Amino acid sequence: MPSDASPARVPRHLAVIMDGNGRWAERRRRPRVIGHRAGARAVQNCVDFCIEHGIHALTLFAFSSENWGRPEEEVGALMKLFLNALEREVEELHRRGVRIRFIGQRERFGPAIRARMDAAEATTRANDVLHLTIAASYGGRWDIVDAARSLARDVAEGRVKAEEIDEAAFASRMALSDLPPPDLFIRTGGDVRVSNFLLWQLAYTELWFTETLWPDVDAATLRQALADYAMRERRFGLTGAQVSASFPPPPDLGTDE
Ligand code: IPE
Ligand code: IPE
Ligand code: MG
Repeated sequence: MPSDASPARVPRHLAVIMDGNGRWAERRRRPRVIGHRAGARAVQNCVDFCIEHGIHALTLFAFSSENWGRPEEEVGALMKLFLNALEREVEELHRRGVRIRFIGQRERFGPAIRARMDAAEATTRANDVLHLTIAASYGGRWDIVDAARSLARDVAEGRVKAEEIDEAAFASRMALSDLPPPDLFIRTGGDVRVSNFLLWQLAYTELWFTETLWPDVDAATLRQALADYAMRERRFGLTGAQVSASFPPPPDLGTDE
């Protein structure tokens, strides 16, 4: 795995809001679904990039809890694209050692998509080259509420005492709990907001924004993000002097290896 030594510090976990598909199509006077199709191709490039650069985990925001509110036609087209991608891409990803998982409210999808999601996870569960997580029907608030519900159930049934609830107990019930928190967050498409992505997990993530629309993202864009990331000083609440004397950050926030 890449280390802190040169050429550059590489994030272990990259989280991406893939935004701008609709505008990409609208600028070409094409229906928005064309932009989503182009966006799916950009996902392949991004996965290739992560594998080539030794990034251990990639989490992609594909569809938010709020995106269900889009026009029926667009939601329908996205579901079709999603199903197609699951049918076509999983085998190749598996061959390349990618572990695929999904986070979000799976029960909101139709049975065909749910079955493909389950199958993709089962097929790729032992892979370790890249941990690819697709956030679909995902919302950061839902994630927190879901963790709270799970804790409440354990308290009600006597498995956990209320006084024992701490950040670690919470974190263990959140999505991505078995991965280090994202080191780098990228949002494409020019908007500077988090849009209900990983609200808990992004606490100390480095944020990077670009005007580039998601379908136009290529290796050069991602290289730029990594180069900027490598220049950042992550202080985790400590002072700059402490960090340069290489005080370790709090263990639950993770360190770059
Ligand atoms: C992101 O692109 C993909 C999804 C939300 C599914 P958008 O569809 O949000 O594209 P813009 O932001 O409208 O350009
Ligand atoms: C965030 O993008 C969700 C995804 C990229 C899947 P949106 O386009 O839904 O976010 P807003 O509406 O601009 O905040
Ligand atoms: Mg958008």
